[in-house]
Amino acid sequence: MTPTPSSTLQTLFRVLLLLCLLTITTRCRKAPPVPTGLVTEKAMVVSAREEASRIGADILRQGGNAFDAMVATEMALAVAYPFAGNLGGGGFMVYRQADGSTGSIDYREKAPLSASAEMYLDSLGNPIPSMSRMGATAVGVPGTVAGVFEVHRRFGSLPMDSLLAPVIALAQRGVVVTENQARRLERVREDMIAVNGDSILFANHCKAGDTLRYAALAHTLERIARNGRDEFYKGETAKTLAAFIQAAGGFITEEDLARYEAKWRDPVIFTYKDLKIISMGPPSSGGVTMNQILKMMEPYDLSEMGQHSARSIQLFTEAARRAYADRNFFLGDPDFVEIPLETLLSDTYLQERMASFSFDRATPSSEISEGAVTVHESMETTHYSIIDQWGNAISATTTLNGAYGSKLYCPELGFFLNNEMDDFSAKPGTPNMFGLIGAEANSIAPEKRMLSSMTPTLVERDGELWMSVGTPGGSTIITAVAQTILNVYEFGQSMQQAVDAPRFHHQWLPDLLTFEPEGFSQGLKDSLKERGYLINEEYTPIIGKVDGILVLPDGRLEGGADHRGDDTAVGF
Ligand code: DON
Repeated sequence: MTPTPSSTLQTLFRVLLLLCLLTITTRCRKAPPVPTGLVTEKAMVVSAREEASRIGADILRQGGNAFDAMVATEMALAVAYPFAGNLGGGGFMVYRQADGSTGSIDYREKAPLSASAEMYLDSLGNPIPSMSRMGATAVGVPGTVAGVFEVHRRFGSLPMDSLLAPVIALAQRGVVVTENQARRLERVREDMIAVNGDSILFANHCKAGDTLRYAALAHTLERIARNGRDEFYKGETAKTLAAFIQAAGGFITEEDLARYEAKWRDPVIFTYKDLKIISMGPPSSGGVTMNQILKMMEPYDLSEMGQHSARSIQLFTEAARRAYADRNFFLGDPDFVEIPLETLLSDTYLQERMASFSFDRATPSSEISEGAVTVHESMETTHYSIIDQWGNAISATTTLNGAYGSKLYCPELGFFLNNEMDDFSAKPGTPNMFGLIGAEANSIAPEKRMLSSMTPTLVERDGELWMSVGTPGGSTIITAVAQTILNVYEFGQSMQQAVDAPRFHHQWLPDLLTFEPEGFSQGLKDSLKERGYLINEEYTPIIGKVDGILVLPDGRLEGGADHRGDDTAVGF
């Protein structure tokens, strides 16, 4: 049959239509970023210290899974990175198994049995900040050892003593002090001496290149390897620890330790465009607040606006402002407070929250607390990401809260104790050390967990694992994690570029937009000021220290190890 002129025209029209569609789809689907971080074929660990990443990666190489590697990495950070890695603190871990099943564990510290809402107030009802920040009175019941043992009980494949053996060897062999560590040790030295006297190891002036050996910690780890979880919570270690904290004036008893349990929690899961994000739920605010921020931004074409353009910063800031206001009011330990999660995360509610947003002018935060602490340079928590050769992934953030926690160091056991009690709201309406204003939902009660901002996160794209990411940074954790995901997804950066990219932060109160020192021009800041934004001109801290792993389209892994610290990716 010979084609008629009209059928030729129809075919031509169809071909043209198809070509147009193709062009549109390829435009929407941005080209995958070219990796600039370490790329490995199968498995990777990224953490704050090379020693810890290496121990975790070795466990994977020996046939251990991501959960085995988590146990080893978490414990290795307690040795190699005592600034934040810990036995005397707590954390959160989110996982996604190779079969797609997800979950999370909460090994957050909790308040001792003797705690009360007024415990950090003076006779006039005013908070005594030093009491919740320094020394024995600031210590919450540690959760880390319970956390790693519970993860191992449920998902581990290698025996616990083989996971702890390289960690013990590292503690005995010692760890070389880096430039960063020497600088930070010098910064906290006076406080350490004030809390502990000058006989502890860290009271010496440590220089970069010195090797610190941790004999007492090695012994504690040996006992834990031999006697299991109960050694820390009911055994000799528990007795020594409780007696030590009480002698120093603190509140934790043997009963507090014996009653501690890590808890499996439902993660917060939501979509952002074609990503599925799996993050930590309460008692961390991370997942909920990031969910709110990203959902409020979702209707906009962020990549079109451009990374760090005035418009994209405005949009992010206004979403963060609204989300942090909710965080501070509604969130707390879900075992103690009713959190209206369904409403807080519903599309209708979030659309209403953004109804007042306009690109013309900043929405002022309702009030600015006088004397509120602004964002301070805080990298004292630590995050690590692991993906194993079978595709299991974990994202874990662990902390002592401040640098070396309460600074209280137990010489006999060889580790620092947290000052996590400061994450409670000592008095509603008064800022904590991150300037976060808390409310009743985060007031202190016996055995309650203090609200956290830690945001260990996993991301799926098209149903497949795509990213593991997280960071320290106190109140800035949530915005730093959200910006890192957007850097890759919206702005086409590699994992390494995304973690290195300059960051900014807003947390509702104080009503200040804070920028990192590099990467934001005065012109940009001026144009934001013209639109009513209050910019923190004096103080430009480092914001977060993000570590992450991106699964590349061909299945290889790209590590993002933040250049702000000594962070290192190791894998194979
Ligand atoms: O749980 C929290 O949100 C805080 N304790 C985290 C502290 C932190 O990230 C310190 N520095 N970077």
